[in-house]
Amino acid sequence: MIFDSHAHYDDKQFGEDRNELLSSMGDHGITKIVNVGASLEGNQRMLELVDQYEFLYGAAGIHPSDIQDLTEKSFAWLREQTRRPKVVAVGEIGLDYYWDKEPDVQERQRYWFCRQLQMAREEHLPVIIHSREAAEDTLEIMKKEAAGMSGVIHCFSYSRELAEEYVKMGFYIGIGGVLTFKNARKLKETAAAIPLDRIVIETDCPYLAPEPFRGKRNSSLYLPYVIEALARIRDLSPKEVEAAVYENTLKLYGLK
Ligand code: NI
Repeated sequence: MIFDSHAHYDDKQFGEDRNELLSSMGDHGITKIVNVGASLEGNQRMLELVDQYEFLYGAAGIHPSDIQDLTEKSFAWLREQTRRPKVVAVGEIGLDYYWDKEPDVQERQRYWFCRQLQMAREEHLPVIIHSREAAEDTLEIMKKEAAGMSGVIHCFSYSRELAEEYVKMGFYIGIGGVLTFKNARKLKETAAAIPLDRIVIETDCPYLAPEPFRGKRNSSLYLPYVIEALARIRDLSPKEVEAAVYENTLKLYGLK
């Protein structure tokens, strides 16, 4: 059984065959998926999808590159959605300095990151963190605003030392298709070093397809390639890794 901890099936890249693809998941052992919100509109589509598919859960949150969607009014709406039974996390939230270089935009990212962390704490939900080229500021905010909370650092792209720091804080590390790339030395080192019970796997689909599909549209059906890569790195069988990360993801999202 495979649990995709982070997917974006609301994305328009799935417009042609979304139903067909999602209906086939069970036949391939994909038994649970968390569809993660990014833009406000994406969050609305996420809510429709989780109503439609029993095995699909949702995370409600605004991605740092979409914070122009946030006002007090849309933020209040977002909070209401976090109270729906199938919404299991707040995310994805965080900082992305790769796409946004202007200091005032980065300042607004930090503001809404803090607000969404506070909301997650008040609503007793784990968080899904997106952080790109913003390692220092993310850690600083997490230490201040997320102490004692739980969640996942999704698509982890920083150093092993930083991963260990987040593990110490009680967070999970999300690993996806990048693990199968030839040039992913840093991530392989991290995947080998951190405790297995702190790792969850993800697609981030439609992005970041694993080898041999790199550059193509990703889907949960490709997760066995990530499991295989992780098994090789940890010197375990794919079955052992599959079972371990499934259990971890249930714990992360508070599911049975
Ligand atoms: Ni994502």
